[in-house]
Amino acid sequence: MRAKIVAGNWKMNKNLAETETLLAELSAKLPDTTAEVMVSPTYVNLASAVRTLDNSKIEVIAQNMHYAESGAFTGEISADMLLSIGIDTVIIGHSERRAYFAEGDEILSKKVATALKKGMRVMFCFGEELEDRKSGNHFKLVESQLKNVLFNLEPSAWSKIVLAYEPVWAIGTGETASPEQAQEMHAFIRKTIAEAFDATIANNVTILYGGSVKPGNAVEIFSKPDVDGGLIGGAALVADDFIAIVKAI
Ligand code: G3H
Repeated sequence: MRAKIVAGNWKMNKNLAETETLLAELSAKLPDTTAEVMVSPTYVNLASAVRTLDNSKIEVIAQNMHYAESGAFTGEISADMLLSIGIDTVIIGHSERRAYFAEGDEILSKKVATALKKGMRVMFCFGEELEDRKSGNHFKLVESQLKNVLFNLEPSAWSKIVLAYEPVWAIGTGETASPEQAQEMHAFIRKTIAEAFDATIANNVTILYGGSVKPGNAVEIFSKPDVDGGLIGGAALVADDFIAIVKAI
């Protein structure tokens, strides 16, 4: 059985005090669940979040990292730095990194390679823009995003990969892919991986949906057979909403 995951990407939100408050509330309200529950606060609060959640089942993950091991990259964070504070999962390829920080396939491939070399787990994000969907190009686009970064990996590397399909038009817009659209794309992703690798790898990889998941739509989205959880943005910033989404899995 592949892992179910609900992860909260806090993006550039919450200062230290707000982070501590939200983490305390999440810890106190976390239901019994077989799903992995993750939160990703901003870099400056990662170490304290790890300490705060020491006795909690909630895992802290990082929103990004650099591909270099160390060196003159002002403002950047390395895999070793994350590992040194107890973080071994990193989000790579989020659409906001692609759009605002010019991260394309080449940079993302290097980041994935470094994270895997360091033994980290990668939550790889991808998804089409509105124009791609309108022109019917969304399957092709998603296939190329996967192919260009992940299809040259060793088959064994897939045990360290989690996929997060996030249609850009549904991120932070309040507009969500319908459960049927999510299922259709997730099934396509699994089929594409089965063709490039094999059915076992395709069946074992966790595929999350992200894009305006809320307490009101989570149950239906998560009920789809190829949707293994969610990567949550806005609703992850409100304890009761995030907990409701965790309960929906
Ligand atoms: O990383 C999370 C996604 O970008 C989804 O964000 O739930 O605010 O649409 P959202």
